[in-house]
Formats: sequence, C-alpha cells, structure tokens
Amino acid sequence: MIALSAAEIAAIVGGTITGPAFCDPARALVTGPVVIDSREAAPGALFAALPGERVDGRDFAALAAKAGAVAVLADRPIADVADVPVIIAADVTVALGALAREVLRRLPSATVIGITGSSGKTSTKDLTAQVVDRLGATIAPVGSFNNELGLPLTVLRADESTRYLVLEMSARGVGHIAQLCDIAPPAIGAVLNVGRAHAGEFGSLEAVAKAKGELVEALPAGGVAILNADDPNVAAMASRTQARIRRFSASAARTADRMADVRAAAISLDDRGRASFRMIAAGSSADVHLRLHGGHHVSNALAAAAIAAELGMDAAAIADALSHATARSKKRMELHERADGVLVVNDAYNANPDSTRAAIEALRHLTSTGRRGFAVLGYMAELGDFAQESHREAGRLAAKAGVAGLVAVGELAAPLLDGARGELGWRGEAIAVPDAAGAVEELRNRLRPGDVVLVKASRSAGLWEVADGLLAEVNQ
Ligand SMILES: Nc1ncnc2c1ncn2[C@@H]1O[C@H](COP(=O)(O)OP(=O)(O)OP(=O)(O)O)[C@@H](O)[C@H]1O
Ligand SMILES: [Mg+2]
Repeated sequence: MIALSAAEIAAIVGGTITGPAFCDPARALVTGPVVIDSREAAPGALFAALPGERVDGRDFAALAAKAGAVAVLADRPIADVADVPVIIAADVTVALGALAREVLRRLPSATVIGITGSSGKTSTKDLTAQVVDRLGATIAPVGSFNNELGLPLTVLRADESTRYLVLEMSARGVGHIAQLCDIAPPAIGAVLNVGRAHAGEFGSLEAVAKAKGELVEALPAGGVAILNADDPNVAAMASRTQARIRRFSASAARTADRMADVRAAAISLDDRGRASFRMIAAGSSADVHLRLHGGHHVSNALAAAAIAAELGMDAAAIADALSHATARSKKRMELHERADGVLVVNDAYNANPDSTRAAIEALRHLTSTGRRGFAVLGYMAELGDFAQESHREAGRLAAKAGVAGLVAVGELAAPLLDGARGELGWRGEAIAVPDAAGAVEELRNRLRPGDVVLVKASRSAGLWEVADGLLAEVNQ
C-alpha cells in the first residue's frame, strides 16, 4: 500500500480516532499490508477488525498490534489495544472501499482491468494477470477475492510501482458491480458470459445481464469494453457503454464472430483436454497451447488476449504468455492421475449449470478414446426456480456424454438421476448417495485402471472431500 498515516486514513474514511495519549495518529504510518486476519499482520500493517457472526475481529486487534500492525480499523472502540491508534468508522467494509478508492486516485499510473461474468472470472483473471504481468507490475486477487471486501483488500496491495490491477468483479444482485466499479473505476472491462449462476437470487437471466453490464456502463469514453461475441446477452451490452468495443469469439463458425477482433481458429484438445489453437489478435496470429484443462478455457484465454492486445502487446507475446500460464487457483479442472491409472478431475470448487456443462463436455472428451467415465455431481446452489430443470439437464448431459456411472450426492441432487434416466439409450448406472463419503465408498469397487472420474458441485454441497478421498484411496 502507499504510505498513509492513521490520521490520513481516518480522514479518508470519515472516521474518528481513539487511542492512547502517547500515540500520535499523524505519526503512525501505515505502509501495508491491510489485513483482516491477525495472523497475516506484519510491521506497518493496518488491521481491519470485521464484526463477524462467530468471531469478532476486535478480539484479535491486540494480537495484530503485537505482530506489527500500526493501526486498527474498527466499528467500535477496542478496550485492550493499548499502543496503536484505532480508527472508528461506521462500517469497516465500506471504509475499506473508501480507502481503496482514494489509494487508486493517488496512483494514476495504475490501470484497472475489471473482469465479470457468470463463469470463468477467476480463471480469466489468473490468465490475464500472467499475461499483462509481462508488460508491468501487476496486482491480482488471490483466489476469488471478488466482492465488496475482497476487491478493496486487493486494491490496497497496490503501490507506486503498480501498473495493472486485474480485478475479479462478482455480483449477487443488481447494483453490486456498479458499487465495485465505484471503488475501483476500470479503464478496461471484460464481460465473459451471462449464465444461470446465482439465477435464483437474480430472478431472471435479464437481471443477470443487467447486473453484469454495469461493468461496461462504468467505463469512461476513453475506456475499452471487451465483450464475448459468442454470448448474445453479452454482445448486446455494446449499446450500454460509451467505451470503445472490442469483441472476442471462440467460435469460428458464425460470420458475425469472424468479425471479432480476437478469435481462435483450428481449436483442438489433447488427451488431457488442453486446448491448442491459432489465435488471431492485434492484427496478426500466433499459436497458443493452453496448460488449463477444458475447451471452455479458449474463451477465457481470448478475453485475456483481447485485454493484453488493448494494452499494446503483440500476438506472439500474448500467445507465449498464455501458453506458459498455469492454473493459479485450485479445484478448477485439476487433473490427478492415481497410481492405478484412474484419472480424477477435481472441478469441485463450485458449480452452476454452465460450468457443469463445460466440465461434462471435458469429461466426454477425456473418455472419447474409450475410457470409462464417471461423474460425481452434487447440488448446484442458488438456482431458485431454475433448480429442478437445471439438475435434470445436467443429468441428461452426463448421460449423453455416455458416463458409465452418475453418482448424485445428497437429496437435492436427485433430479440429476431423473434427467439421466430420461435419456433413452443410456446404459450407465444411476447411483444415489447421501454424502461425500458415500460417493467414495460406492466408487471404490467400481473403478478400474483407465477410468476418468469428474467431481463437481457447488461449494456448499461439500464435495471437496470426494476428490481428496478418491486420491487417498490409492496414492498413499
Ligand atoms: N468460460 C467458461 N464457461 C463455462 N465454465 C467455465 C468457464 N470458465 C471456467 N469455467 C468453470 O467454472 C468453474 C469456476 O471457474 P472460475 O473459478 O474461473 O469462475 P468464477 O466466475 O470465478 O466463479 P465464482 O463465481 O465462484 O468466483 C470451474 O469449474 C471452471 O472450470
Ligand atoms: Mg471466482
């Protein structure tokens, strides 16, 4: 973070300062990091004490100070913090947003790149960060820090050396992304897709599109909107921005998409589902060999390429960076080969109907050489009225992909099996289990060398243990 005194921070966030008489808030100089976990506090840190349902951050303020934090941000005074100033603000998260906004205002040479969409934000953020990092010092969130708390915490890592901030922006409702753009005004904004993730909360796809489009609405006239030409709901956002439009397309089939500024031709997948393609960008073309698994990452890579091209990178440099980029965030299409030759695809980080379709498509590809496929699927959360049909559809897709077994984990996932059974000609086994342990148990005696097992569900479905369990069976 850029250096700011506790007094300056208090003024920025509209807070007041309490603290011991001998502690001069004008002297307490915060140089960062800004942390919400006292274990991450270091000399120069600002500890933001978040009120929580189970733990109150204020209880850890003294520990943070001991670890070197020079100031604390809280919504109420803290009795046991004796030697550092405490900045009191009405709402700690809002205060962090205000602080992030001001820090960015003081860093005019840092370009903010916002990325949103229903699926692929983290993957695209990770790809983009690894590409633009070649142009200059880049800050991007760890994992999925994409909301009103994670975004300011990421921004607050920036300092005078920062050239690019690649920010993931998520929305659980209309107005959320506008709020994030207010904290970190983007110069470039990429929209990946409009899908049914969180559709239950939004109520309709139109509302999802309205929310995601807030990113391009926030762009200035001199900015650039990067839009997925393959998704009609994203392409339609062109009318909602004053920024210049750049389009990307992973589909060479449609004439309109051949007009896209950044596109892919001759896409092929290797035996691990990694895509190679000819990328056309920035007026020339170059070959890309992705290290990420699943054909859906072509689209994400093109979004990253379109961003980099706008920043002045040529096609060869972009292709080289994309081809070296690795999966930085875990449990997204991770492939693990067991000692007995069973391939476990751990995509259990999260799920929605679109990412489930993408994962099943990858499973279909991985088994196209004759391997048997198993899909262990759990509940996809937050789908509201779309839930029943979305689960049936995922089951149908798994059956269509010819899985030898579909394991539905938990009662809420049962419609998956109905969907699969409804697919005429499917000869696989429909298996219902109550929980993750049940899935591992059922697969134990079924799996044979060469089989491929996909594990996927929403975070809340508790399937993270399935992949771990399957791997522990043989790999110890
Ligand atoms: N373009 C895409 N289309 C469909 N699925 C995708 C796409 N990109 C990534 N996925 C899949 O979606 C899941 C989540 O990926 P990722 O974490 O990149 O997305 P996200 O938008 O950041 O998700 P979250 O909303 O949970 O933060 C993974 O299973 C991943 O393989
Ligand atoms: Mg994410």
